[in-house]
Amino acid sequence: MGLHSILVVFQALASVALAALNASAPALSIPSAQVWDGDDGQWSTFQIQVGTPPQTVRVLPGTSASAGTALWVVIPVGCTSVNPTLENCEGERGELFQSNLSTTWSTQNLVNNPDGAIYSLNTVEEAGLGLSGNGSYGYDTVTFGLPGSDLPTLHDQLVVGIWTDDFFLGSLGLSPYTLNLSSFNGPQESLMGALVNQSLLPSNSWAYTAGAVYQDPPIFGSLTFGGYDTTRYNPNGLTVSFANDEFRDLLVSLKSIIYDTAGSAPLLGQEINIAINSMVSEIWLPTEVCDAFQQAFNLTFNEQGQLYFVSEEAHRSLIAQNPEFTFSLGQAGGINNGSVDIVLPYAAFDLNLTAPIVGNDTRYFPIKRSENSTTYTLGRTFLQEAYVIADYDRKNFTVAQALFPPASISQNIEKIVAPGLQESGSKSSSGLSGGAIAGIVVGVVVGVLIILAGLFLWWRRSRKARSSKPNNELGGQQVVPGRHEMEPQSKFHELDGPEIPAAELEADVPPRDQK
Ligand SMILES: *[C@@H]1O[C@H](CO)[C@@H](O)[C@H](O)[C@H]1NC(C)=O
Ligand SMILES: *[C@@H]1O[C@H](CO)[C@@H](O)[C@H](O)[C@H]1NC(C)=O
Ligand SMILES: *[C@@H]1O[C@H](CO)[C@@H](O)[C@H](O)[C@H]1NC(C)=O
Ligand SMILES: *[C@@H]1O[C@H](CO)[C@@H](O)[C@H](O)[C@H]1NC(C)=O
Ligand SMILES: *[C@@H]1O[C@H](CO)[C@@H](O)[C@H](O)[C@H]1NC(C)=O
Ligand SMILES: *[C@@H]1O[C@H](CO)[C@@H](O)[C@H](O)[C@H]1NC(C)=O
Ligand SMILES: *[C@@H]1O[C@H](CO)[C@@H](O)[C@H](O)[C@H]1NC(C)=O
Ligand SMILES: *[C@@H]1O[C@H](CO)[C@@H](O)[C@H](O)[C@H]1NC(C)=O
Ligand SMILES: *[C@@H]1O[C@H](CO)[C@@H](O)[C@H](O)[C@H]1NC(C)=O
Ligand SMILES: *[C@@H]1O[C@H](CO)[C@@H](O)[C@H](O)[C@H]1NC(C)=O
Ligand SMILES: *[C@@H]1O[C@H](CO)[C@@H](O)[C@H](O)[C@H]1NC(C)=O
Repeated sequence: MGLHSILVVFQALASVALAALNASAPALSIPSAQVWDGDDGQWSTFQIQVGTPPQTVRVLPGTSASAGTALWVVIPVGCTSVNPTLENCEGERGELFQSNLSTTWSTQNLVNNPDGAIYSLNTVEEAGLGLSGNGSYGYDTVTFGLPGSDLPTLHDQLVVGIWTDDFFLGSLGLSPYTLNLSSFNGPQESLMGALVNQSLLPSNSWAYTAGAVYQDPPIFGSLTFGGYDTTRYNPNGLTVSFANDEFRDLLVSLKSIIYDTAGSAPLLGQEINIAINSMVSEIWLPTEVCDAFQQAFNLTFNEQGQLYFVSEEAHRSLIAQNPEFTFSLGQAGGINNGSVDIVLPYAAFDLNLTAPIVGNDTRYFPIKRSENSTTYTLGRTFLQEAYVIADYDRKNFTVAQALFPPASISQNIEKIVAPGLQESGSKSSSGLSGGAIAGIVVGVVVGVLIILAGLFLWWRRSRKARSSKPNNELGGQQVVPGRHEMEPQSKFHELDGPEIPAAELEADVPPRDQK
């Protein structure tokens, strides 16, 4: 196996799917797994079933416009080769997906690549923060939630097997955009795109908060497609327009960071533009802001790991002081359209690194130095206390203080209906145009259904034809010439060689100006 099978990933941020939006479809609430996972904090994961028979894995929602275009699941090499000594590795990484145990796994359509379907991950944003990796691409059946939870199933969905420790858990990509690989037959639908395609969503939108293990009792994360949960946030009226940089669409202006000790200087005094990205754990800030945190709270900078440790003494002092950090943010791009405050207690920053990152649990303060304004990032740490509602049809989003309702309060899901869509039966304010739009929508939906039916028949026929041949995917004896090359494990030992310096990783990532 040579380098030539690792093809650079190209991102096509084409427009989101609209044709099959369904005004009558309810918003889709994805239940949390009720488990805390992670090696750099305790994060609330969500269950997803992949393959036939279904294998259940736990993954974290990924808000990134680029890396969030596909479902990522950890595969066995992520333990056997990458973490051979990690205790309970499978459980620690949210359980593994084994494609060779799935009868519906397929690498068909991953064309022009006789060596198999290993490509770099689409980490346009994340690679700038030192997070990247390769993935084993294929298609399989994906069902949200646990068996019996009555959530949708998507067939032939793009599934990416990952093994890098840069992303310790898999990712449930929330991006509605298509993913375009240079060697794929056309753009690949995201999870949301596939839900829309099946007329299962009223809009291209999601709402997410990460959950907070430090609350008493701990409150798990909340994830909704096509709407939001009114019990999980405090509305503030802030509406932020998506940024022009399509890879950092969830960009806000961070006006200040202060903490509530009388007379203390602001930690951040000068406004910066910063992107929200749940696929990153920490908060990436200008170096001088990190210095201010370090001084104020006696943090210990670790040169090798480029992160801040918290000594027992500093921790005790922080607990005693119990500072609250107020992040004041609003519309990016110099537009003053009001601002809102998101408050994070010290507990939100009181995280531990665990194995395999460190041998013994180690307290750290999840801020990172950013030399470059293109990498300022509000990671998952921030999303413990913030609720984000993103509407890709209207190209706006909101950030609000997360609420932690007691278990006795049940969720209250409101749906977001895409502009121009009418719920069937509801009166439109401008009768004629509403009716016309509804007609168009129905027409398009019927058209898509006819096309889908045709495709399905064609697919079934070609599948029947295929399945009469020996099925080498099931480990049969007969192997189509060259096909054994596609078995990912045959090349993994070559992939996980020595640690590669960060500078070299960037070579795998397309330049930012791919528009
Ligand atoms: C996807 O990439 C191919 C080849 O690079 C290109 O021809 C095609 O137009 C792209 N599709 C979209 C939707 O950008
Ligand atoms: C839905 O999926 C089919 C088959 O994959 C595809 O041809 C079609 O373009 C998709 N439709 C939309 C609206 O995305
Ligand atoms: C739209 O959603 C409603 C409610 O879930 C469903 O009954 C209907 O079949 C959907 N329409 C299409 C075209 O799938
Ligand atoms: C599937 O692959 C794993 C390693 O990824 C291997 O240990 C196992 O034996 C394989 N199982 C089958 C049925 O081929
Ligand atoms: C992906 O695999 C290629 C080929 O083995 C390797 O050169 C590259 O460093 C890998 N990328 C990452 C991010 O590990
Ligand atoms: C930081 O630590 C030093 C001793 O290591 C101590 O004198 C000082 O009071 C501490 N500062 C804060 C703000 O805790
Ligand atoms: C400012 O916010 C209001 C709603 O609060 C919104 O209608 C308006 O479009 C926003 N203006 C800009 C420039 O984003
Ligand atoms: C972990 O802690 C134990 C006991 O406190 C100590 O003996 C050991 O050296 C530590 N290991 C590392 C890698 O720091
Ligand atoms: C974090 O690690 C410290 C030791 O560095 C330990 O005392 C503490 O209990 C750990 N916290 C959690 C939540 O595991
Ligand atoms: C910031 O990073 C980008 C991408 O790595 C680079 O092109 C740019 O030159 C950097 N800007 C500065 C001021 O260092
Ligand atoms: C987007 O804008 C519309 C109208 O301009 C507004 O009603 C809606 O609340 C905004 N959505 C979000 C998530 O802020």
